[in-house]
Amino acid sequence: MDSILVTGGKPLRGEIAIAGAKNAALTLMPATLLSDEPLTLTNTPRLSDIKTMTALLQSLGAEVSALADGKVMAMSSHGLNSTRADYEIVRKMRASNLVLGPLLAREGHAIVSLPGGCAIGARPMDIHIAAFEAMGAIIDLKDGYLHATTQGGLKGGVVKLRFASVGATENVLMAATLAKGTTIIENAAREPEIVDLATCLRAMGAQIEGDGTSRIEIQGVDRLHGATHPVVTDRIELGTYMLAPVIAGGEVECLGGKLSLVESFVEKLTEAGITVEETDRGLKVRCDGGRPKAVNVTTEPFPGFPTDLQAQMMAMLCFAEGTSVLEEKIFENRFMHAPELIRMGAKIDVHGGTATVHGVEKMKGAPVMATDLRASVSLILAGLAAEGETQVNRVYHLDRGYEHVEEKLGAVGAQIERIKGQ
Ligand code: UD1
Repeated sequence: MDSILVTGGKPLRGEIAIAGAKNAALTLMPATLLSDEPLTLTNTPRLSDIKTMTALLQSLGAEVSALADGKVMAMSSHGLNSTRADYEIVRKMRASNLVLGPLLAREGHAIVSLPGGCAIGARPMDIHIAAFEAMGAIIDLKDGYLHATTQGGLKGGVVKLRFASVGATENVLMAATLAKGTTIIENAAREPEIVDLATCLRAMGAQIEGDGTSRIEIQGVDRLHGATHPVVTDRIELGTYMLAPVIAGGEVECLGGKLSLVESFVEKLTEAGITVEETDRGLKVRCDGGRPKAVNVTTEPFPGFPTDLQAQMMAMLCFAEGTSVLEEKIFENRFMHAPELIRMGAKIDVHGGTATVHGVEKMKGAPVMATDLRASVSLILAGLAAEGETQVNRVYHLDRGYEHVEEKLGAVGAQIERIKGQ
């Protein structure tokens, strides 16, 4: 398995182009199942999760081709021949459950493996199941698979989510475009990836209002047609690279970045004394060498501080002046990077969902283990400022969510290389 070797102490200067959002692409790709006409996505990130979704869609009979070096995905589901999402693919990536809504809507039935837990938490599917039941689906669990059927198709209705789940909102939104009548999603998630999905679905002929708010109204239509849609900028990759110069020192402009995607995150950077400037090309972050100030952070659904930036923020707070308290409210087990950061000299106490970070002036490079996607990159960020070498092992998680991380950071002056595994 590959590892990444970072030698700390090099200030960063230059620009980093931010890719299309992994989490948007992973819900836009299954949207192809809703139509028998082609759907083309541009600005797709080149990631292993995208390959997993490609394999899943192909296993259902869809045609999926990566063009322009993987930046364009051309898809067509006119030859759909299966409604079964197999455990072998679903277990690799939880977002595989996003085929359930489109399959149910188009075919009236689907068999989708339960994804199982993952390192960061149990991650059940109850909100998705309750939502489809509210739309008339009958769902049984057999042999680890959800067997979903409908009598004469999905029906619109009021779907009230007990929690604003991103995946459940996306699954229901896709399904409701072809359901009979009007569906109202109450307590809907408001993430930019949902607005991006709704924008794409509208381009395919769907009738949707209210995306980006907690109440989305969808008027079902008989069929959707083809479309071409650009994937929204990855706000998590953006936030990650915005933290790099804060930790390593220097100035980096993140091309394609927009304040509206990362407002709550930028508020915290500003509170920590960091200057963020919106330019006509993106977001520029400058750090003049002083340590950032400690800040308290609580993760929340959008527009709150994103859980997917919590590990990276912790890496920064390890070097801050003072004590910060990080509260993780979305996932029950998302501090696995803390023990690894402690191996590098960080001072962190974890109690349940709360981590107290006592900032230190210096950390030291060490061999560390990547436990999940965002944890991996937080260790790379810490390595940028730690003295000596940090070797981040088991980086396959990283490749699920960050394209060419060593090239992007290397181009702005970081000393970073990939060591190929056996
Ligand atoms: C998506 C993102 C992920 C991000 C998360 C929260 C994708 C592909 N992934 O994941 O990167 O960290 O949003 O912003 O977009 N829950 C239940 N029952 C359910 C569904 C969810 O209890 O049926 C719980 C989860 O266990 C978790 C919380 O709700 O504790 C949030 O999950 P959710 O918003 O659904 O996240 P995902 O869509 O899986």
